[in-house]
Amino acid sequence: MLSKQQLNSYWMPFTANRDYKEAPRLVASASGMYYRDQNGREILDGTAGLWCVPLGHSHPTVVKAVQDAVATLDYAPAFQIGHPQAFELAEQLIDYSGHKFGQVFYTNSGSEAVDTAMKMVLAYHRSRGEAQRTRFISRERAYHGVGFGGMSLGGLPANRKQFGTLLAGVDYLPHTHNLEKNAFTRGLPEYGTHLADELERLIALHDISTIAAVIVEPLAGSAGVILPSKGYLKRLRELCDKHGILLIFDEVITGFGRMGTPFASDFFGVTPDFMTTAKGLTNGVVPMGAVFSHQKIYDALMEGPAGIELFHGYTYSGHPLAVAASLASLKVFKEEKVLEHAQSMTAYWEDGLHSLKGLPHVIDLRNVGLIGAIELESMPGKVGARAMAAYKKAFAEGVLVRTTGDIIAMSPPLILEKKHVDQLFGKLHDILKHLD
Ligand SMILES: Cc1ncc(COP(=O)(O)O)c(C=O)c1O
Repeated sequence: MLSKQQLNSYWMPFTANRDYKEAPRLVASASGMYYRDQNGREILDGTAGLWCVPLGHSHPTVVKAVQDAVATLDYAPAFQIGHPQAFELAEQLIDYSGHKFGQVFYTNSGSEAVDTAMKMVLAYHRSRGEAQRTRFISRERAYHGVGFGGMSLGGLPANRKQFGTLLAGVDYLPHTHNLEKNAFTRGLPEYGTHLADELERLIALHDISTIAAVIVEPLAGSAGVILPSKGYLKRLRELCDKHGILLIFDEVITGFGRMGTPFASDFFGVTPDFMTTAKGLTNGVVPMGAVFSHQKIYDALMEGPAGIELFHGYTYSGHPLAVAASLASLKVFKEEKVLEHAQSMTAYWEDGLHSLKGLPHVIDLRNVGLIGAIELESMPGKVGARAMAAYKKAFAEGVLVRTTGDIIAMSPPLILEKKHVDQLFGKLHDILKHLD
C-alpha cells in the first residue's frame, strides 16, 4: 500500500493524476502474456505494455543478454568512440529491414527518433544547397511523441494546446478516419486513398521549394488505431517521388512485427526514406529508439567538409544494455518464428474482435495485424468517460487495454494464443454488455 506522500511525489505522465491517486492501479511483476499485481493477481496484457513488448514479458533470452551486458560493459560513450555490439546491431537491423536503408542512428525513445529524423532531413537538404526546404507536412490526429519536434508534427489537439506556438513551418494532411464510409471494415478499408492527394494542395500553397518532408504513421496508433485505405501510402510515396519530397514513416508502434511483417513498410510494400522506431526494438526492456535512413542521406552528408558531419547525438545513444536487449530480441524474433506465429493468429484475432459487433454503444470495430480497436459512442459532453469506465472495469477484472477518447485499443504481445484472444474479447464482451 503506497502512502499519500509517495503517491503525491510522483507526477505521472499522460495520467489523470488526481483520479488515479484515488484508486491506484499497480503492477509488480510480469512474464509472458501476463502482468501480476502485488498480491499475485494476473492481468492479461492486451496492449504489450505500451505497444512495446512483442515477445512477451521477461523473455529469458533478452533478460540474460541484459544481465550479461551490465556485468561486462555498463556504459560506453557514443561520441568519437564505440563498442563492437553497437555496430553489430546496426548491421543486423539493416538486414532485418531488407537492406532498404543504409544506416541506423540510435536514440533513447520514439520522440527522440522523430526529432533526429527531422534534423537529418534539414541537414540533408542544406547539404545539397536547398536550405530553404524546411517545411514538414504531417497529418491531423498524428502522434509523433512529445519533444518539441514531434509535438509540432502531432495532430492531437490535447497534446498541443498547453504548449504555446510550437515549431513554425508545419502543415497537415487530413486524417484518414471516416466512420460513415469505413465502419466495421475487416482489415484495411477501401475508401480514403484520395486523401493523400491533399498533398498537392499543400504543395501549391507553400511552393515545392519550401517543403522538406512528409511524415506519417503508416497506421496511427495513439490516436486510437486509425487505418489508411489500401492504396493511401503508395499514393503518398508516388507524390513524394514526383516532387522530390522525403518521406518519413514513424514506425514506433508498427515496427518489429505488429503487422506480422518486420515493419509496416513491408506490409504495405512502400519504402520511405526514413523509418523512426523504438519500443519493440528492445522488446521494451531498455529504452531505445533508432532512425533508419536511406543510403543517399548519409552519402550526401559524408561529402561535406572533414569533421563531424551531423552535430547531433545523445549521451545514451547505443547504450550497451539497450544494444544487448535489441540483439537478443532480433535473435528471438528469428529463432522462435515470432512473425509467422503473429500471422497465424490474425484471422482468429479479427474474428474475436468483430464478435463484439452489436453490443451497446459500439460504433466501430477495426483491425489489422495484431491490432484492434473498439470505438464507442461518446456520452454527451463527456468524451472519453465511457471508454475509461470500460478500461477501469477491465483492469479490475484482469485485462489490460488502452484508451484514447472513446476508443479502446488493443495490441497484445505477438506470442498470444487463441485462449488469450478468447479471454480478452470474452471479458470485453461482458463489460460492454453492461456498460452505461
Ligand atoms: C508513432 C509514435 N511516434 C513516437 C512515439 C513516441 O515514443 P516515445 O514515447 O518512446 O518517446 C510514439 C509513442 O507511442 C508513437 O506511437
